[in-house]
Amino acid sequence: MAPMTRNRAGIGQVPTDLMAQFYVQRASAGLLITEASQIMPEGVGYPNTPGIYSDEQVNGWKKVTDAVHKAGGKIVIQLWHVGRISHSLFQPEKKLPVSSSAVAAEGKVFTPDGMKPYETPRALELKEIPGVVEAYRNATVKAKRAGFDGVEIHAANGYLIDQFLQDGVNHRTDAYGGHLENRLRFLKEVTEAVIGAWSADHVGVRLSPNGSFNDMSDSNPKETFSAAIKLLDQYQLAYLHLRQGTPSDAKRRVPVPIEIFRPLFRGPLVLNDGFTRPSAEVALAKNQADAFAMGVSFLANPDLVKRWEQNAPLNAPNPRTFYGGDEKGYTDYPFL
Ligand code: PHB
Repeated sequence: MAPMTRNRAGIGQVPTDLMAQFYVQRASAGLLITEASQIMPEGVGYPNTPGIYSDEQVNGWKKVTDAVHKAGGKIVIQLWHVGRISHSLFQPEKKLPVSSSAVAAEGKVFTPDGMKPYETPRALELKEIPGVVEAYRNATVKAKRAGFDGVEIHAANGYLIDQFLQDGVNHRTDAYGGHLENRLRFLKEVTEAVIGAWSADHVGVRLSPNGSFNDMSDSNPKETFSAAIKLLDQYQLAYLHLRQGTPSDAKRRVPVPIEIFRPLFRGPLVLNDGFTRPSAEVALAKNQADAFAMGVSFLANPDLVKRWEQNAPLNAPNPRTFYGGDEKGYTDYPFL
């Protein structure tokens, strides 16, 4: 199951019993990847997303992982720092969000005071970067303690790591910006810190080479992401998870054919974006990936695996209940 933000965490960004129910209903997935979860207070940019840095959050997640394991499932948590995709209203002491560079995203953010344009973030100072890397390490230790089977480093979709990778945002002139090796440095340091806190075979990484979401661009995405994937190939990770890009991405950005990345990574490859059972089977037959991450279809069908096995019809997802709210559109989708 693909990671999906559902905005239903409780006070203190603590996972709730309802969240445990949501995941346990879907425990027949080969692997559940949780919704993105902030690694530190500055990493948040949306209402009611869960965290993985406090003891209360660990205790909340422990209920989720225990329930999923009891049902025979496996679950990894997605580690997230949104960077500039936030607003000072979400930040500790109402400070500006941070990023690789002081470049604002185009668009608006849903804050506790309504929709607001994105602010120009503050570029992280060189001396602050080790502290952010340390927060990824700490979150990994917490994830292990919370009973997860592993972690997924969220390096996709225009959030902090992606803000270092792509030169549409990263305008730094120090060791973390400019040529490719420098733009890869933050991803490299985060990956090594996370692996150091657990082991490579418990760590996946997600990238979105074709994503335009969150106002992302790069002057040479083929080169940038080929280099990122070759870097990740050396660690013997649990998996690499790629978003192939959506038709709406392709309107804003010429897509790099996703197949070109397959030979660059020798470990398990997970592909995501718009797959159906038939299209995934075609891609599998062509050896384009080892697994496929299903998002909205798994959201609307807690028993998606069984429905596929039985060629049963699927429930339709309701986008109005994707983000926030209660059990409606969350844990009340009917089973067969
Ligand atoms: C979202 O909350 O809209 C969201 C979060 C994480 C993503 C993508 C979208 O990777």
